[in-house]
Amino acid sequence: MTQPNRKKIYEGKAKILYKGPKQNTIIQYYKDDATAFNNKKRSTINGKGSLNNRISSFLMEKINNLGITTHFIKRLNMREQLVHSVDIIPVEIVVRNIAAGSICKRFNIEEGKDLPKSIVEYYYKSDELGDPLVLEDHIIAFEWATNQELEEIYNLSLRINDFLLGIFSSIGIKLVDFKLEFGRLYSGEDNIIVLADELSPDNFRLWDNVTGKKLDKDRFRLNLGNTIDAYREVAERLGVL
Ligand code: TMP
Repeated sequence: MTQPNRKKIYEGKAKILYKGPKQNTIIQYYKDDATAFNNKKRSTINGKGSLNNRISSFLMEKINNLGITTHFIKRLNMREQLVHSVDIIPVEIVVRNIAAGSICKRFNIEEGKDLPKSIVEYYYKSDELGDPLVLEDHIIAFEWATNQELEEIYNLSLRINDFLLGIFSSIGIKLVDFKLEFGRLYSGEDNIIVLADELSPDNFRLWDNVTGKKLDKDRFRLNLGNTIDAYREVAERLGVL
């Protein structure tokens, strides 16, 4: 449960950040709120927060164990996790293995087309501007990240993609695409790039291998119904329930 005396640092669309118990730690609270199309469509999906908390904790821990540093420290309870405080890089990284969503509209391609090479795209994180697609040169010229940081982000994103493709394939799910966020974690004089935010069906497209059934937030975006059942199915198949 949220403690009323906690200091709220930030409230986003799906999560609330509170000051953590130790310096440079944060408590990340998962809400049941869902939004789509840049906040134009809004609803509450009962139980989503606790499922996303479990799924994201499980995947972040696995990624930590691979030697890729993340902001994740531990899951605290049903809705909360303890994470390191990081300086978020204002770029959303989208990795695509199969064409779906905005790439289909942009290039007039059919949903479901296999991409022979995974595509890494960058979007500027700005609700006001509707998260526009940007190029590497924008990121560097506007000093959202350095060239070196961006190279690291690109390489880490592809490693995370390889890892997630394997995990989902082992439970009969196609990882179509997903969105990542990275941050800078200050350690001593230096800072390192770490995976931040969350890894959940809010930020993935997941299709059942056999039936093609959508098991992610597209159920909400496209009014397909049974969104929570799909999230629960992902959690069950991952063995985290
Ligand atoms: P898109 O096809 O709409 O560009 O989305 C690509 C992936 O990124 C998809 O898995 C959903 C995820 N995503 C987010 O997590 N947040 C967003 O704001 C958007 C637009 C997409």
